[in-house]
Amino acid sequence: MSARNQMLLQLTRLPFFLKLWNRMPLGSLRTRVDYGIFPYPHYAYGLFWAATLAAALDIGRISAIEFGVAGGRGLVALEHAASEISRETGVAIDVFGFDSGAGMPAPVDYRDLPHIWGPGFYRMDVDKLRGQLSGAELVLGDVRDTTAAWIGQSHAPVGFVAFDLDYYSATVAALQIFSGTASTHLPRVHCYFDDVTTNDLGCMNPYVGELLAIREFNERSAERKLCLVEQLRVHRHRWEKWQGRMFAFHDFAHPKYTQLVVSPERADSQLPLG
Ligand SMILES: C[S@@+](CC[C@H](N)C(=O)[O-])C[C@H]1O[C@@H](n2cnc3c(N)ncnc32)[C@H](O)[C@@H]1O
Repeated sequence: MSARNQMLLQLTRLPFFLKLWNRMPLGSLRTRVDYGIFPYPHYAYGLFWAATLAAALDIGRISAIEFGVAGGRGLVALEHAASEISRETGVAIDVFGFDSGAGMPAPVDYRDLPHIWGPGFYRMDVDKLRGQLSGAELVLGDVRDTTAAWIGQSHAPVGFVAFDLDYYSATVAALQIFSGTASTHLPRVHCYFDDVTTNDLGCMNPYVGELLAIREFNERSAERKLCLVEQLRVHRHRWEKWQGRMFAFHDFAHPKYTQLVVSPERADSQLPLG
């Protein structure tokens, strides 16, 4: 590790330093992505690597999606991160936010965890949010209708998705975003799942909610899988609670899945001894 990174690591251990850095977000984009200096650091992380992957594959435009928008804090954060990441990587990013526009619908059954969430939770003030957005598009309506309709239209390939719909039934519907041909998504798509954990009363488990939707998705196909990005703790400078919620969609049959995305010089480099 470089001396600069050693020093930054020591500083981030000081309780006030991260707060201060977030308030004054100095430093390069890559450094701030690596240290999580963004209002939604998990969105910045996923989107940065999606755009980096697109650039390596010579894909000039991608789509970034938030499923479940509510008041819009996440979508505004995604939009801000997108404009900075786009400037830096040269990859254009179209941002979409899917939501009913009227808060949570009625739960379908116990798999939607009605003991934690219920109809009308998290209402959106549509006009207010529209006034805060500069380029992101709101896709309003039940995701059981809007997702399939969206994938049937022409859009840049999906590069990053945040799933924050809370319900199993809604997440199953939103996962149709990965049902299109290879041209509709990058070979690997960073995906953040907000609700693979709940509060202590919720007792999240693999038979309900997002975890069940992910498991059923994975059982359906040998070639399209959603997998946790393993061991993020080892690759990042410090533990952040979103690390256990970062997944990637893999389309193993995608024509670009096996394309080399690291620089060819890496092949000639020597691994350090010991
Ligand atoms: C927890 S909130 C999202 C919070 C937001 N991501 C944030 O970071 O501020 C969940 C949202 O999912 C939406 N939602 C749940 N089920 C839905 C469905 N079937 N169709 C459309 N939206 C749905 C609700 O309207 C609600 O606004």
